[in-house]
Amino acid sequence: MLKKTATVMTIVTGSLMAGAGCNNPGPQKDASADSVKTTPVQVQPYGEVDGKPVSQYTLANQHGMVVKLINYGGIITDIITPDKEGKPGNVVLSYDSLAGYRQKGNPYFGTLVGRYANRIAKATFKIDSAEYKLAANNNGNSLHGGLKGFDKALWQVTPLPGDSSLLLEYTSPDGEEGYPGTLQAKVIYTLTADNALKIEYVATTDKPTPINLTQHTYFNLSAGKEPTILNHVLQLDAPSFTPVDAQLIPTGKIEPVKGTPMDFTTAKPVGQDIANVTGGYDHNYVFDKAEMKVRGSLYDPSTGRVMTFSTSEPGVQFYTGNFLDGKLQHTRNGAVYGKNAGLCLEAQHFPDSPNQPAFPNVILKPGEKYTQTTIYQFGVK
Ligand code: BGC
Repeated sequence: MLKKTATVMTIVTGSLMAGAGCNNPGPQKDASADSVKTTPVQVQPYGEVDGKPVSQYTLANQHGMVVKLINYGGIITDIITPDKEGKPGNVVLSYDSLAGYRQKGNPYFGTLVGRYANRIAKATFKIDSAEYKLAANNNGNSLHGGLKGFDKALWQVTPLPGDSSLLLEYTSPDGEEGYPGTLQAKVIYTLTADNALKIEYVATTDKPTPINLTQHTYFNLSAGKEPTILNHVLQLDAPSFTPVDAQLIPTGKIEPVKGTPMDFTTAKPVGQDIANVTGGYDHNYVFDKAEMKVRGSLYDPSTGRVMTFSTSEPGVQFYTGNFLDGKLQHTRNGAVYGKNAGLCLEAQHFPDSPNQPAFPNVILKPGEKYTQTTIYQFGVK
């Protein structure tokens, strides 16, 4: 097993940006320091899905940062980081048990999302002349991979040597949720010595298929102190965005943010202009090009916590939890998650790309490798 996992690490780290089918350039510049051995990975029972065991895995480093995740949906249940006084707190919206993550209408708290994160218009797309139909699970469109996307899959989890990384693997069969091709997905979560959560993705297919993987954690850096993220200060290095229609489907245009409420190129509170954005922020921000670098930062003045965001992806969905309505059950410590209780920074290719020829390619072909690296790094100021 050690040999196998070591080989996988080599494959993953050695060729992350090479030969990607989705416009990822190489080589990669890694913003995190090498991970070092920390405490051994802890594994706890976390319930069952379809008679199969669900486990919770805990990664911890020597600076008091802890990340917990489960094999169901690859869900991150906890990111515990110290505030400016050194007091630890969980900075992600979460539930008290598996029942929370399994409830109808769970808005993808902490999940891995695939095969195609975000929306595909009219739940249909073509590859060459063949038309594919997906489940229309969002106003006639497809959202987040369909009825049973990667967020509801049981991933195989293997701790990697060094105790700071977990390899998650899922094979999505040909035709699953209407998508063509058997897709083999691997995700490595690493907690680094310098308080970063690094997420590396690799996927291959045996037939051309669209792919867009992401991580759907909702952050609230106050760890329960602030009911919303409206006072969080965000900076996002994105000069443009993809405008959407009333159903949040891109119009196909890419427009500059300058001089509009969409502009976060200079840091500002999330709530400053939100009233001038219909429905709140739920938009794909576009970077100048897809290359691995720091793309933004989030700061919570109430606790001093800061999170920097780096990704190799060409865009990020900035979502301010507009549809949270305080009705979710099984929340951690009975928290009421109302509108804007948390925000997501979902590294991604652009929504509806399979139907938008002008957007960067998302069709992965046999023999190609899909790759992505995204890093959330934590500190205080
Ligand atoms: C989407 C939102 C959606 C949320 C939860 C986000 O990625 O952009 O529109 O409500 O996920 O499903």
